[in-house]
Amino acid sequence: MDILDIMRTGPVIPVIVIDRLEDAVPLARALVAGGVRVLELTLRTPVALKAIEAIANEVEGAIIGVGTITRPEDFDASLKAGALFGVSPGLTPELVAAAWDSALPLLPGVMTPSDVIAARTAGFTELKLFPAQQAGGVGMLQALSGPFPDLRFCPTGGISGTTAAQFLALPNVACVGGSWLTPGDAVASRDWGRITTLARGTADLRPAAH
Ligand code: 3PG
Repeated sequence: MDILDIMRTGPVIPVIVIDRLEDAVPLARALVAGGVRVLELTLRTPVALKAIEAIANEVEGAIIGVGTITRPEDFDASLKAGALFGVSPGLTPELVAAAWDSALPLLPGVMTPSDVIAARTAGFTELKLFPAQQAGGVGMLQALSGPFPDLRFCPTGGISGTTAAQFLALPNVACVGGSWLTPGDAVASRDWGRITTLARGTADLRPAAH
């Protein structure tokens, strides 16, 4: 799958932080049970790569990706763990070089028009707008569609279940990302049923025309 296929699989890519390795598989299963198959597990905890590996091996239907890629060496480590795609909060020349050396498809983060030009020059046409709400939200994406009509975005950061539909209604938005499907208290209390319910709530967020 390329990045655009992944972005079009579902309207929401949950941004996941795993503190306890044993939570990874049941949490991923809860999301998949709710119809959310594309998962971004962030490299923010010591167990992140092992959590990706467990999901890749054990959760049928999951399309597991790695989030918070910030260093060139993250590409190899993520591929070895079984990740199918990567997401970065920004883009540097070092990350561009690593991405083009790697088989891991990358959704790179941008926040400004200059970032967008640099990413497009490096060959990326699917971009994560991060942090989306703080960067200007829906108005920013509408403004970017003028000079950059060929680009598709996954806005992430500051988006919730109530604002997601406004983003998904934009023609240059293929999906959105966010952490609201995996609230910290639900994960801490292993309330997988609540996470499945939240995942189910994403099904009708995307307008039928998209
Ligand atoms: C992140 O990197 O944590 C994501 O952007 C999620 O942001 P959110 O918690 O505002 O959804």
